[in-house]
Parts: sequence; structure tokens; C-alpha cells
Amino acid sequence: MKVLVTGANGQLGTDLCRALHKFDVIPLTHADIEVADMTSVKDVMLKHKPGVIINTAGYVRVDDCETERDKAFSVNALGARNVAVVAQELGARLVHLSTDYVFGDVGETLVVSRKREGLVPSRKRHPYTEFDVPAPLNTYGKSMLAGENFIRHLCSRHFIVRTSGLYGIAGSSAKRGNFVETVLRLARERDELRIVDDQVLSPTYTRDLAHKIAQLISTECYGMYHITNKGHCSWHRFAGEILKQAGLKTPVIPITTDQYPRKARRPHFSVLDNYHLRLLGMDDMRPWQEALKDYLIAKGHIKQGRSGQSRKKNTQ
Ligand SMILES: NC(=O)c1ccc[n+]([C@@H]2O[C@H](COP(=O)([O-])OP(=O)(O)OC[C@H]3O[C@@H](n4cnc5c(N)ncnc54)[C@H](OP(=O)(O)O)[C@@H]3O)[C@@H](O)[C@H]2O)c1
Repeated sequence: MKVLVTGANGQLGTDLCRALHKFDVIPLTHADIEVADMTSVKDVMLKHKPGVIINTAGYVRVDDCETERDKAFSVNALGARNVAVVAQELGARLVHLSTDYVFGDVGETLVVSRKREGLVPSRKRHPYTEFDVPAPLNTYGKSMLAGENFIRHLCSRHFIVRTSGLYGIAGSSAKRGNFVETVLRLARERDELRIVDDQVLSPTYTRDLAHKIAQLISTECYGMYHITNKGHCSWHRFAGEILKQAGLKTPVIPITTDQYPRKARRPHFSVLDNYHLRLLGMDDMRPWQEALKDYLIAKGHIKQGRSGQSRKKNTQ
């Protein structure tokens, strides 16, 4: 079966192309297809006639979406529409990637008490299931939610996959790497790091997500899925775990979102529950700390079985 992957050189796209080795993969980069342009999507997809389309293409710069609103909606909403229309025309299965940032607007007030996972909002403490009603806080989330709606209405054989806090070997070209690499670099450059402790998420290794998507496409269990590694943490705790596993001692100071203002508002709690997968007996996603360890080994930051060992010489 032919599986066409958009965003094939992105963080998730790269791991997907590897995880799909049993299939006939058609990897498409931004140079090969412009998802915001219906003609481009039609020309390319009708030429290849895939049985499965996986759309990882997206305008992912969350803060820039606030100032580049038209681009956000063109790529994340209309791009999804274009892909959905062509997938339906081909009778193809469509996997479309979405985000935890479709959630967040729950009128949260912050409880200033430290829990294990950091400073947490008082109202929302339970992970979101696929059956919770989305309410995005920022333009990125709104444009992604609009994209989800196009997919649901225009393509009958769809899998919408919401995920969160992605990091992968390839790194995101749009974000110039990923959070793990940024933390490691800054920890080596600075005396201390200051990281927000009142935004809680589930960090997810793209390799794990890619393997789960590869499993899912062979089923006919269409619909909405939340897919993240197990467990959750604040960005501060995530950074602390990265440094602990890498054997770096740079102190990480917890700060609040107010102390690190950004253009886009972000949810204080956007943890996703892999509920649909669990109902199907398919939720074997491993804890985020284990996934992080594998990532650090794969990138050469630590050696197998030797997490916590400093590798200062191998810093770049
Ligand atoms: N990163 C996260 O933490 C996160 C969290 C939740 C959900 N997601 C979603 O997961 C998906 C994959 O994310 P990722 O981290 O793998 O992103 P990524 O590394 O930035 O990859 C996105 C890919 O899409 C391509 N692309 C961007 N605009 C395009 C367009 N208009 N037409 C065709 N291709 C285009 C990019 O190519 P160029 O770079 O060459 O433009 C890049 O190859 C996205 O839909 C994202 O919204 C990401």
C-alpha cells in the first residue's frame, strides 16, 4: 500500500517515514507540495494515488501565528481542507495531526501551591479525553481546530491525532530544533535556566508517536485520537529531567507564565488522555521519562545504560 507523508522532513515526518518501512512510502517535503494550495495538493496526490495520506504539514510557530493569522489559517485550516477533499476523492485513509492547544480556555485561576508536576491550575486537573469539548486560547489552536473540523466533515476515513510537546531526532526546522536540544544548549552556555512551571503537558517522542500511527492506519477504527507518551509534567520539570538524565548540574529556576510573557497565550494544563487508544486496548505508550532516555541515547547525549553521566565534550 502507498502511504503519502507530507512534512516528511519535519520531526514527526522523518520518524514516520522510518516507522512505515513496511509500506511503499511517498515522502513529500514543502518543496514537493504546498498544502495551502488546492491545485498543488490535487496535482501531487492524484499523481501518486496513495491508499493512505498522513498530513504532518503545519504552521507550527505558535507565537508567530498571532501576527501571521492568515498564514496560520491558510496552512492549518485550509491546508487540512484541501488534503481532506483529495483524500475523499481518492477513497484514501487520512491521518491528520493536531494539537493539545485546541484545549485550554477553561477560565483557569492558578493555585500557587507546588504539586509534584509543578504549579497547576485550580479548575482543570484531569487530562482531556477525545470527548471533551475543545476551547483554544490562541490563533494556532484555533486554526488547528478549524483544520480538524474540515477533516471530520470532508473525509470519511479519517484519523485525527492530537499530540503534545513533540521532540524528535530531526528537530523542527520551523522551531530550529526542539525543547530538549534548546535546554541542553542553554544549560551549557548559562549559569542557570529559568523555565515556566505553570504549564503542564505530556512530552512526546516523535518515534513513539510514529510507531503508534503506523499501527493505527492498518485498522478501520477511524475517529479522533489523543496520542502522547504516558504521564505529564511542567516545562520546568521536563527541563529538570533532561538535565538529570544528561548529567548536567545547571540549576533550573521555576518561573510563572507571567514572568515569561509571549505573544500567544498558552494553556496552564493541556494534558491529553489516550482514552480512545485505551478503549481499543492499544494504549501501550511508555512513560515520557523512558522515551526521553531513548531520545538522548539516539542523539548521542548519553550512552546506553549510563544516563546521568555528563558528556560535556560531546556538547554540540
Ligand atoms: N511540535 C510540537 O510540539 C507539536 C505539538 C502538537 C502537535 N503538533 C503538530 O504535529 C505536526 C508535526 O509537527 P512537527 O513538530 O513534526 O513539525 P515540523 O518539524 O515543523 O514539521 C512540519 C513540516 O511541515 C512542512 N510544512 C510547513 N508548512 C507547509 C505547507 N504549507 N505545505 C507543505 N508542507 C509544509 C515543513 O516544511 P518547512 O519547514 O520546509 O516549511 C515541515 O517539514 C504539525 O501538524 C503540528 O502542528 C506539533
